[in-house]
Amino acid sequence: MTRLTRVITGANRERPLPEVDMSTRLANVTFPGPVMTASGCAGYGRELDQFFDITTIGAIVTKSIMVNPRSGRPTPRMAETPSGMLNSIGLQGPGIDQFIERDLAWLEKRGARVVVSIAGSATAEYVKLAQRLRHAPAVSAIEVNISCPNVEERGLVFACDPSASATVVEGVRRNVGSGVPVFAKLSPDVTDIVSIARACVDAGADGLSMINTMLGVVIDTETMRPHLGGVTGGLSGPAIRPVAVRAVWQVHAAMPEVPLIGMGGIKSGQDALEFLAAGASAVQVGTVIFNDPVAPARISSELQRLLADRGFGSCAEVVGAAHQTGQPSEVEAPTASASAGGVENTGGAAG
Ligand code: DHB
Repeated sequence: MTRLTRVITGANRERPLPEVDMSTRLANVTFPGPVMTASGCAGYGRELDQFFDITTIGAIVTKSIMVNPRSGRPTPRMAETPSGMLNSIGLQGPGIDQFIERDLAWLEKRGARVVVSIAGSATAEYVKLAQRLRHAPAVSAIEVNISCPNVEERGLVFACDPSASATVVEGVRRNVGSGVPVFAKLSPDVTDIVSIARACVDAGADGLSMINTMLGVVIDTETMRPHLGGVTGGLSGPAIRPVAVRAVWQVHAAMPEVPLIGMGGIKSGQDALEFLAAGASAVQVGTVIFNDPVAPARISSELQRLLADRGFGSCAEVVGAAHQTGQPSEVEAPTASASAGGVENTGGAAG
């Protein structure tokens, strides 16, 4: 199959990238870059690989997989919203057996790093998924989706309750190999995200992914009914970015030693940099993929240029930089004034 990479990424790809160590360590695993796909926005990687080489980004985070195949919620399943999108897919998927045999096997053969997202409606289901993945190849990490908004019963969103979150995380942690880090994916729809984060870490989570979508409703004013077949859906895209940055900021401030993966409306390298400065060690790119499938590769290159422009020699140096005390002007000045990717270098905190 002809690759579209050269055609689509064009000029951005051809300019050589500045030297910056883009590797990032999440618990005991080092990823070659901090940019990953967000769960649910890149399937199992195969379609995206037609647009760019998926082995060049940090990792593919798979659509959440459940024990059994599922057909999902009724249509319509998507609604456009200002600076975002509402979705109500309902965890459609092939089930763990087919996923391992077909999708994970393909990702392994392709040589991509894989973070497997798992979802369940009871702790026992998460445990079963962890057991099935224990001996599966090519699993760099597990992301435990305890915050799916599209479940029948809102009371089943584990991530809204610290002890329910802890029970699931503990069950998964106990059943996957010690070399595979477990990340819990948190919901922003809570009063105190730090207390949920702490419960997950105390239960054995090696890190946290923040944030899942926010619960929303769109009403069709022609039919005067909810637009989505499932009524409620998860809001994603730039509309939720400041909420996501706030969540990362709060949890990093409370637990600076815990690796965080930040996500929510990242469209550019500058957006990714915001998350890293707030305390994330890696980022995931989701909704933007639907209209710009090369976005993960583009954002990674943009980020690399922005880091170089600001005088950072590595991605690790910028993690949590915005938490430093003192005015940005009192902190070391950037070493280069060139702008990158159309984004002005406005200085800011340097490592
Ligand atoms: C679905 C799951 C999610 O965790 C999410 O944020 C959005 C959609 C789903 O498959 O329905």
